[in-house]
Amino acid sequence: MCGIIGYVGTEDTVPIILEGLKKLEYRGYDSAGLAILDRGAVSVVKQKGRLTALEEALRQNPLTGHIGIGHTRWATHGEPSDTNSHPHLGSQRKIAIVHNGIIENHRYLRETLERKGVVFHSETDSEIVAQLAEYYHRGDIMDTVIRVTNALEGSYALGFLCADDPDKLIAVRKDNPLIIGLSDGGNFIASDVPAVLKHTNKICYLEDREIAVLEKDRVTFYSRDREVIHKTPETISWNFESAEKGGYKHFMFKEIMEQPRVLRDTIRSALPGGTNHAVIEALDIGRYSQIFFTACGSAYNVSMVGKYVLERLCRFPVTADLASEFRYRDAVIDARTLVIVISQSGETADSIAALREAKRKGADTLAIVNVVGSTIAKEADHTVYTMAGPEIAVATTKAFSAQLALLYLLAVRFARGLGRVTPPEEAALLADLEELPDQAEALFAHVDRIQQYAATCFNCKSIFFIGRNVDYAIALEGSLKLKEISYIHSEAYAGGELKHGTISLIEEGTLVVAIACTERLYGKTASNVEQVLSRGARVLFLTSSGETEETDCLSLLPIRPVSEWLAPSLSVIWLQLFSYYVAVYKGCDIDKPRNLAKSVTVE
Ligand code: F6R
Repeated sequence: MCGIIGYVGTEDTVPIILEGLKKLEYRGYDSAGLAILDRGAVSVVKQKGRLTALEEALRQNPLTGHIGIGHTRWATHGEPSDTNSHPHLGSQRKIAIVHNGIIENHRYLRETLERKGVVFHSETDSEIVAQLAEYYHRGDIMDTVIRVTNALEGSYALGFLCADDPDKLIAVRKDNPLIIGLSDGGNFIASDVPAVLKHTNKICYLEDREIAVLEKDRVTFYSRDREVIHKTPETISWNFESAEKGGYKHFMFKEIMEQPRVLRDTIRSALPGGTNHAVIEALDIGRYSQIFFTACGSAYNVSMVGKYVLERLCRFPVTADLASEFRYRDAVIDARTLVIVISQSGETADSIAALREAKRKGADTLAIVNVVGSTIAKEADHTVYTMAGPEIAVATTKAFSAQLALLYLLAVRFARGLGRVTPPEEAALLADLEELPDQAEALFAHVDRIQQYAATCFNCKSIFFIGRNVDYAIALEGSLKLKEISYIHSEAYAGGELKHGTISLIEEGTLVVAIACTERLYGKTASNVEQVLSRGARVLFLTSSGETEETDCLSLLPIRPVSEWLAPSLSVIWLQLFSYYVAVYKGCDIDKPRNLAKSVTVE
């Protein structure tokens, strides 16, 4: 959580930082601020609220300069307020810092400094970094940064400005992301690539405890022992436009509409000649006795689909586990286990911890990640990338679809490895898969249908989602999507579970969204639909079967997958659109729902 950006170069810094913060707002939006170093003095403007509040504050109090740092906050320690906003300054206003992460020993360090007379201004854990830096500072900022980081416990991505060294921006990180962007007009630090894409696609990734010293015409990397490290910049293929709204009102809608392209690119990436092909081919399923999926939120819901699909196609033991549970539950895994970690950001704290736990236990690890160079991508034994491009809306859509596509391809690959499919069967499965992008595209011709239905739902107090098997996994995703952006209470149930308690909540007019795309289970879900209809519910029924007829209380959304096992990729798009329109009709902040952040880098 929290986004940081910094720039040193020949351009005016303030607009660059504000623009970068806009791209990072998805990481937190409780408050924002920036610090500029100009003529030997550090000036800070920071403001509770959205970026527009900071822009207004800067209109009242304009700043200029060629070196600066900025921050957008997702509060962890201390409420959202002007004083708790970043950047933080030391007491002598010589050193300014921005921080993403959590300083776990901040209380101890704060008490130690307070005993020495240092006065703190905020309730944050981050201020300790600025105060400690000024306390240690003896003129050499590198030395100061090393001493500060040696004292810190926890996680951090940090940017430092120091009035004694007015041409340098210093960056360091541990367990939180930080990239360095290089351009002819200056150099950048940022939590994520989209923040600098307008200016450069030449990126270096900072490793844990490495230090970057940025000047306007060079960047020098050091180890914690001050040895110079040589890094070759990587060229990012994402372009600036892909991180823009491109005429759409919301990123979420744009990203939903991008899914046919994302599916096409991701499927191709895993086929011969594609960038993920070699990694997938090299996985020898014969080495393993079981597969564990671990992930958080929507990525966990993808794991659930993966579990059902892999078990059925491969006849192989598969477990799906929430990363926050997996990391502490002492799971029974060993060198014959393949642990698959799924993450859009590649920086989710629980997923990183789960990956490390799996490695500690000797398991082989495969990451399915969207952000190139992220921690999970780098630490896993094998990594495949979803071809979603930058996902900006907090609620994930296109990354979900891309993850699902890679899971289908892995399932086919493993089924072949285990001898569960013949070459013609494999070819048929892949042919089905290659039709999926066009099918997703065709679905968009009927968007008005779901829009009209959503218009009747935005006043609902509670919505239930039911399904069985993969349809249950998609019900989980539909429910999560709805609640996170529309704030309507919703729950997802395996259809068969409803009558074991939850059905008592169904009353006149309660909306139930039922999904039935698994033919052999159609009758079961249809009878669950009957049960709720007879208790007064109204039902939105997503189904691939033509058996049901519409009534006043029962509305149908047909799904026609080329093959049943791919239906989740279509039903999820209907549910994304449903949530989107319900939230639009409710007037919610679609791309930045309250209390959330895109990249959950705290436990
Ligand atoms: C929901 C959503 C979250 C993420 C979860 C994991 O729309 O976006 O539930 O799926 O926080 O994030 P990643 O995939 O970055 O590990």
